[in-house]
Amino acid sequence: MSSGNRLEGKTVIVTGGASGIGESTSCLFVEQGARVVIADIDDAKGNALEAELNQNGEVAMYRKLDVTQESQWVEVVEETIAKWGRLDILVNNAGMSGAKGRATVEDTIVQNWDAVFAVNSTAVMLGTKTAIPAMRKNGGGSVVNVSSIFGIVGSPMGAAYHASKGAARTFSKAAAVQYAPDNIRVNSVHPGFTDTPMTLDIHSQKEIRDARLAMTPMGRLGLPIDIAYGILYLASDEAGWVTGTELVIDGGEIAW
Ligand SMILES: NC(=O)c1ccc[n+]([C@@H]2O[C@H](COP(=O)([O-])OP(=O)(O)OC[C@H]3O[C@@H](n4cnc5c(N)ncnc54)[C@H](O)[C@@H]3O)[C@@H](O)[C@H]2O)c1
Repeated sequence: MSSGNRLEGKTVIVTGGASGIGESTSCLFVEQGARVVIADIDDAKGNALEAELNQNGEVAMYRKLDVTQESQWVEVVEETIAKWGRLDILVNNAGMSGAKGRATVEDTIVQNWDAVFAVNSTAVMLGTKTAIPAMRKNGGGSVVNVSSIFGIVGSPMGAAYHASKGAARTFSKAAAVQYAPDNIRVNSVHPGFTDTPMTLDIHSQKEIRDARLAMTPMGRLGLPIDIAYGILYLASDEAGWVTGTELVIDGGEIAW
């Protein structure tokens, strides 16, 4: 990776910004000239990444944000503007799968369904809702919502995860239509099977890894940076006429 200026002067909030795809996005965005708020619930990883990114000047700050809590969203957006004067880009990346998200339809219990929806769907609405007034003041902005290929297609497992990621996908289109007059673009990114802390357990199981590799025409699973580059494009002014679209980054997994 090399440094550049694709996000020069932009201020960004990346949720789940301390790990996996979010961490890679935070790092790439700093390299491209942005000031980044790493918003996460993992204090250890968030503080460590803040220190790493600030080695040559203050370009990042970690803020604890449970994305399911509207009052915390308001505080983080206010702090961002107090610190850097503006908010240009929001990446709604925080997400969860785990046992709660991976249960089949008959094994799904409502409390788990609600917990998965709170992080993967409701939080995407809360973040977008809170960011819009701040972006409007700048004359525009970009929201990138990290959904999944599982928000487009089904699989043998994971009713709540699929449904919650599908909701994030169509929410993005509704918000795109509603805020285009404000020059605020809203798009979704749909990663395929990517090696991150979230998938460490399942991708360590040879049978599952081999099955996922067999589903991937490009012959390898994804890296966080594969996804971060797509998020960068949609976040940047290069995508100035792109809104309400869905960018699948999956090595061809759902092209079959
Ligand atoms: N890894 C994959 O194969 C894959 C595939 C498709 C989509 N995704 C999506 O990509 C996104 C990033 O996932 P990842 O694989 O990098 O996982 P990850 O577990 O490495 O990172 C997720 C981050 O979200 C944070 N988070 C979780 N709940 C939160 C909350 N309530 N408030 C704030 N932060 C919270 C975690 O602390 C963590 O830092 C998720 O939305 C995930 O569903 C991942």
